Amino acid sequence: MLSVKNNSPVEIKDDLLAKFDEIVKRYPEGRQKSALLPILHLVQAEFGWLSVDAMDKVAAYLRIEPIEVYEVATFYTMFFLQPQGKYVLEVCRTGPCCLVGAERIMKHIENRLGVKENEVTPDGLFSWRGIECVAACGMGPVLQIGPTYTYYENLTEESVDQLIEELKHK
Ligand code: FES
Repeated sequence: MLSVKNNSPVEIKDDLLAKFDEIVKRYPEGRQKSALLPILHLVQAEFGWLSVDAMDKVAAYLRIEPIEVYEVATFYTMFFLQPQGKYVLEVCRTGPCCLVGAERIMKHIENRLGVKENEVTPDGLFSWRGIECVAACGMGPVLQIGPTYTYYENLTEESVDQLIEELKHK
């Protein structure tokens, strides 16, 4: 959901614009809109999330309407529409993972980090959220760490604690 609190001005610097240009060149003349998804990934990698201002600037760059960018960014759950921690623990909460303890794992993460879903820890390192199936159903409970999407499978409270400690000291 987009709202004013999702707004945060960004400056798209020349080196990022050069990467946009590189991507647009892959598509036929007049089809620059096709570069939208890879450009949004670049913007998220740069700023950590997609603010309304960032999406508006992408729209202006691609010469499309802002709504065309919002539609895509709000459809794909890999795009963050609010600030996130450096590490986003994304726990699969679809049925098969729930049957083997995904909800217990999410509760444990919430208690361990001391923040609710989509909130950021005060040190800026972590946020977490439930997501839909990541196609590792036989290895549940599963989490992936965005934005690199490394998988951690057969989770237990102990393995989650160990993972959080490792990430803290990375
Ligand atoms: Fe969790 Fe498929 S249900 S990975």
